[in-house]
Amino acid sequence: MNEFYDRRYDQKDFYWGVKPSAICYRILDLIPPDRGIKLLDIGCGEGRNAVFFAGKGYAVTAFDTSSVGVEKTKRLADKAQVQLDVFVADINEFRFSETFDVIFSTGVLQYIPMGIRSEILGNYRKFTSPNGIDALSVFVKKPFIAGAPDAESTSHSWISGELLTYYQDWRIEFTTEEIFDCMSSGIPHQHAISRVIARKEI
Ligand SMILES: C[S@@+](CC[C@H](N)C(=O)[O-])C[C@H]1O[C@@H](n2cnc3c(N)ncnc32)[C@H](O)[C@@H]1O
Repeated sequence: MNEFYDRRYDQKDFYWGVKPSAICYRILDLIPPDRGIKLLDIGCGEGRNAVFFAGKGYAVTAFDTSSVGVEKTKRLADKAQVQLDVFVADINEFRFSETFDVIFSTGVLQYIPMGIRSEILGNYRKFTSPNGIDALSVFVKKPFIAGAPDAESTSHSWISGELLTYYQDWRIEFTTEEIFDCMSSGIPHQHAISRVIARKEI
């Protein structure tokens, strides 16, 4: 249950749009969907990335705390005529019981309080298949960027480089930190986002 995002998503339009995040195309190159690749989208929102991956042939599982987001994801998947398994779950309570070839998340890990990050990221690492990848993007705090006008109180900032520290012994396929303009909420603002794609090389 997530009243904040339920309210935000409770409209015909898609708050984050329906185009996939640009990082999705890197995953297509790094681990093409040619052998039933299992992909998990953590905090799928209204489904733009999960449905994109399913359309490309990945076996997609996705979850979010917003039941409205999950229902919109199902509708987007139906419209695109693709199959995926999507359900309501909380990133702070969800623990893996099966491995995935791709663990994907964008703009969600800031909901993990600092004290349990290491345990949760450890769980992701453990349940990534050999040669699989974790592709994670998280908002980071910068002193020169004001807080977003639509930020939630449950959000816990990350710092530059922090995400990489969890993948020191994996192959870093891609990493970047970007500052981008955002019009969510209708008020122009900026975000800094750190992205890491790491491969569990064996
Ligand atoms: C910035 S949006 C990103 C949505 C999606 N990943 C995308 O790129 O379109 C953040 C998402 O995190 C979800 N979220 C917030 N707290 C969460 C939690 N504790 N567990 C799982 N998802 C959560 C929200 O419902 C929202 O859909």
